[in-house]
Amino acid sequence: MARLDGKVTLITGGARGQGAAEAQLFAGEGAQVFVTDVLDEAGQAVARSVGGGFRHHDVTSETDWVEVVRWVLGEAGRLDVLVNNAGIFRVVPMTETSVDLWHQVMDVNALGVFLGMRTAAEPMKQQRSGSIINISSIAGMRGAGTAFAYGASKWAVRGMTKAAAQELTPFGVRVNSVHPGIIDTEMITEVGENWRDVLVPRIPIGRPASAEDVAKLVLFLASDDSVYCSGHEYLVDGAMTS
Ligand SMILES: NC(=O)c1ccc[n+]([C@@H]2O[C@H](COP(=O)([O-])OP(=O)(O)OC[C@H]3O[C@@H](n4cnc5c(N)ncnc54)[C@H](O)[C@@H]3O)[C@@H](O)[C@H]2O)c1
Repeated sequence: MARLDGKVTLITGGARGQGAAEAQLFAGEGAQVFVTDVLDEAGQAVARSVGGGFRHHDVTSETDWVEVVRWVLGEAGRLDVLVNNAGIFRVVPMTETSVDLWHQVMDVNALGVFLGMRTAAEPMKQQRSGSIINISSIAGMRGAGTAFAYGASKWAVRGMTKAAAQELTPFGVRVNSVHPGIIDTEMITEVGENWRDVLVPRIPIGRPASAEDVAKLVLFLASDDSVYCSGHEYLVDGAMTS
């Protein structure tokens, strides 16, 4: 039996990077996969490749969230796994962070996660089962001096995860956060073209993670292998924060 047989899964920001890797891995483990993103063409291609569904979805929109969860329930009748993966990265230190930039980053990375958890909670509570996985970062484990708003948003994800786990775990709904280190996706190019020269010497394992390295941890939290895990942070960082 595959690890996600019969599970209905929803992955935000699934058009590329880690979200796309999760979609592939989940489908290979028997899940029904629904992908959402603001990138329509790429999102549709990922959905097609896993035999799943795609819908345009801005995670900062309350009404988009209601429509997306209604769509999944209409298509599949249930929702077992939500991966709040969509995110944006901006390399700007605190003294240069404008209020506009603060809101932009907090809206996608923190408000988006809050809205996702709130919308998915009701059907999951009714089922008395579910797993919500919120993608934070090592920037949610320590100070992110060069990416102030991003770090604040990822600490918010970690804190919201714990609070939501206290509220939802009694109903059978587990909530955890995942904290990747440096992952080789398009997001990291925000650091600059020379990101490998700058970042790899700081990674004890000697290389950035692939999107699949992270997806395997997300798979564990999505599956019943993690049935007693809720309310905690899971690092996948090649010892960067050790
Ligand atoms: N790449 C890294 O080094 C790294 C490290 C730690 C954590 N993370 C986190 O991992 C997650 C996935 O990032 P990735 O590395 O795959 O980067 P990525 O940029 O390839 O993927 C992010 C996806 O989110 C989507 N997105 C952005 N704004 C959105 C919105 N408003 N609504 C819906 N979708 C939106 C993008 O279109 C994109 O497809 C993010 O939450 C990111 O913060 C990444």
